[in-house]
Amino acid sequence: MNLQTKVKLNNGVEMPIIALGVWQSHEDTKQAVLDALQAGYRHIDTAACYKNEKDVGEALLESNVDREEIFITTKLWNPDIRAGKTREAFEESLKKLGLDYIDLYLIHWPVEGYKEAYKEMMELRKEGKIKAIGVSNFKKHHLEELIQAVGEIPTVNQMEFNPYMQDEEVLEYCHQQGIILEAWSPLGSGVCLTTPAIEIIAQKYNKSTAQIILRWLLQKNIVVLPKSVHKERIFQNADLFDFELIDEDMCLMDNLNQNLRTGPDPDNFDF
Ligand SMILES: NC(=O)c1ccc[n+]([C@@H]2O[C@H](COP(=O)([O-])OP(=O)(O)OC[C@H]3O[C@@H](n4cnc5c(N)ncnc54)[C@H](OP(=O)(O)O)[C@@H]3O)[C@@H](O)[C@H]2O)c1
Repeated sequence: MNLQTKVKLNNGVEMPIIALGVWQSHEDTKQAVLDALQAGYRHIDTAACYKNEKDVGEALLESNVDREEIFITTKLWNPDIRAGKTREAFEESLKKLGLDYIDLYLIHWPVEGYKEAYKEMMELRKEGKIKAIGVSNFKKHHLEELIQAVGEIPTVNQMEFNPYMQDEEVLEYCHQQGIILEAWSPLGSGVCLTTPAIEIIAQKYNKSTAQIILRWLLQKNIVVLPKSVHKERIFQNADLFDFELIDEDMCLMDNLNQNLRTGPDPDNFDF
């Protein structure tokens, strides 16, 4: 396993297991993406609502890394899902990113209209503009409803997952169905980093708490999307392949679950 290790999605497309997340990276987005590409990341996770697809696109252009080497995820935002504007929103994202296809396009949240949006994405995939379709913030019941309605299993579900928020039901269902689970806020937006129990494990392996958390997720077959705008942290968050957590430490990490969300509950949100 290394930074460029890929997981095969259920439609055969390969996706790197570590992405740079760019939510709230604001004016630092372009530099963060350039630093990440320099560190060896080949997967970037953005979204229309992060308002930084243009910065991501500029970094991709400036980096001179071949397009085929890079895996880009972006997401369809809620008002566009509700308004049935999937195609228009997709074309807008493509334009901002300066690309002619998206590797992974996600339904950002399960708002009304998501089934129709998914079907439109299937058309875009047929046209070669999307390599893989996925969802985000879908609990088990949302996934069941979607699969029933569209007749296929999405490739990816991106959910909040970190030591304090471990939705075992959705993880188990995704793994059973062959859906890759991606952890958003893998570090709990930073709040998990000062957990005393993780600090003890970090000392034992001579690693940072961020590295312990990310390694724990990878060993659970969960793809990680850590966000940072600091070069040394971007490098650190990808330096996860010269150690392995033993079973006992995996259990200690599993036991930190509090079902405590840093973000909204997919069954109860108002945006
Ligand atoms: N699908 C969704 O609905 C959804 C929702 C939320 C997030 N996401 C995705 O998930 C990504 C990550 O989530 P997130 O941004 O909430 O949080 P995160 O990755 O869990 O944590 C980021 C925070 O931790 C800090 N940090 C990162 N690495 C560190 C390190 N090695 N040492 C110390 N501090 C460190 C960052 O600070 P600095 O930046 O200052 O270094 C930032 O404050 C997002 O960027 C986005 O791509 C998706």
